[in-house]
Amino acid sequence: MDSPIPSLTKKLDSKIAIITGGASGIGEATARLFAEHGAKVVIADIQEEKGRSVAESIGSSHCSFIKCDVTDEQQVQSLVQSTVEIHGRVDIMFSNAGIASTNDNEQDILGFNLDALDNLFAINVRGSAACVKHAAKAMVEGGVKGKIICTGSVTATMGVTKQIDYAMSKHAILGLVKSASKGLGKYGIRVNCVSPAAVATPLLEKSMKMSVEEIEKLFDSFNCLKTGAAIKASNVADAVLFLASDDSQFVTGHNLVVDGGFHPPA
Ligand SMILES: NC(=O)c1ccc[n+]([C@@H]2O[C@H](COP(=O)([O-])OP(=O)(O)OC[C@H]3O[C@@H](n4cnc5c(N)ncnc54)[C@H](O)[C@@H]3O)[C@@H](O)[C@H]2O)c1
Repeated sequence: MDSPIPSLTKKLDSKIAIITGGASGIGEATARLFAEHGAKVVIADIQEEKGRSVAESIGSSHCSFIKCDVTDEQQVQSLVQSTVEIHGRVDIMFSNAGIASTNDNEQDILGFNLDALDNLFAINVRGSAACVKHAAKAMVEGGVKGKIICTGSVTATMGVTKQIDYAMSKHAILGLVKSASKGLGKYGIRVNCVSPAAVATPLLEKSMKMSVEEIEKLFDSFNCLKTGAAIKASNVADAVLFLASDDSQFVTGHNLVVDGGFHPPA
């Protein structure tokens, strides 16, 4: 891969990074940015065809794909083990795989479908816990002062009327990040969270049944910050790069919000 970034300014030179949910949206944008900055990226996702094609487009010297369903702890453990076997260690875990609420009733409190909540928690919460646990174990065993970043959301710190299970799952991510940062600090491992507002990725297109343009127009009206552009996956990737690099050397247990001053009507 020909990176446009000069070697001296590459922020992740030769770092080994796992990105879950890296086949699409925010994970894909982050995989591309990490590779440009010299990292060797392992994309882990359930979408095999898409994941392999993203990895190929980045280039086999900088990116590979491992199929992994984060709801299955054994698959997560094997993902981390394979990465260590192939690359020698894990420096960065970006635990990003996630889904939106799936129930058609939109998961408000009166029509709350708890089976749908269980399914969503298995991916968003249990999956992230497995990724943090196994990456941390590999980092501790390898003596790596690694960086772990989880994807939260603006809904991690606010109440919502719909998609309650999603907001609950993202509150749990904050609990995971803050707790893991306490337990792993003594090993020099940093754990942080990136919390985007709405980004028009396939997740949101499917969940809102709207086009990219419609989503960006709707959510731009909720942002205090008016730049003339909508928040893109690449803007979130920039924040993840900050948390994964030495630019954030003393940042841990932090929730970095990327939301353009998101301020929805009550
Ligand atoms: N798009 C937004 O507006 C927004 C806002 C805040 C937070 N987020 C969070 O960002 C993260 C990435 O979402 P996105 O918007 O890029 O969506 P996306 O749908 O484009 O990407 C999510 C990826 O996760 C993968 N995935 C889903 N279940 C999985 C599983 N069980 N195991 C492994 N991979 C799995 C999907 O295949 C997909 O490639 C999610 O955690 C989401 O909750 C998104």
